[in-house]
Amino acid sequence: MNLFYSKIAGLALIAFLSGCTTPNIETSHYLSSPAFSNDVANTAVMGKWSRSCALCHITGEAGAPVVGDQEEWQRRLAQGEQAILKNVLEGYNAMPPLGYCMSCEVADFRAMIAYMAGTNP
Ligand code: HEC
Repeated sequence: MNLFYSKIAGLALIAFLSGCTTPNIETSHYLSSPAFSNDVANTAVMGKWSRSCALCHITGEAGAPVVGDQEEWQRRLAQGEQAILKNVLEGYNAMPPLGYCMSCEVADFRAMIAYMAGTNP
């Protein structure tokens, strides 16, 4: 079991123990709602975004999908949330594992993706 999956497993365990239902990305709950629309980036998440993701996702460095480019993000979201989260956690071509954000949790990534893709209402 690699580090990323054990991190997810740890989150799921914490969620289970605390009676919280959020971080389980396997649930069909997310499939019935528009992609990533239920995670809203707060100030703390945006701070992490500015320190990590902004480096590439503002300019489109190395082919990174640019923040707010809804057409490009829709194309990427079409592959499904689990696939896109897996690419963020494990890395994907020039996208580094965890997007250089070691302190980011799955919920943070979900909120960041919703912010960049513009899927929040
Ligand atoms: C070093 C540059 C860099 C940083 C830093 C970075 N990304 Fe990326 N990201 C990329 C590139 C390049 C791609 C496009 C990869 C491709 O499609 O070949 C990408 C793609 C993505 C995708 C789409 C993946 C897919 O399946 O299509 C998501 C989501 C994403 N990044 C989220 C993030 C988040 C969240 C952060 C910050 C925590 C982050 N990235 C930080 C370069 C970066």
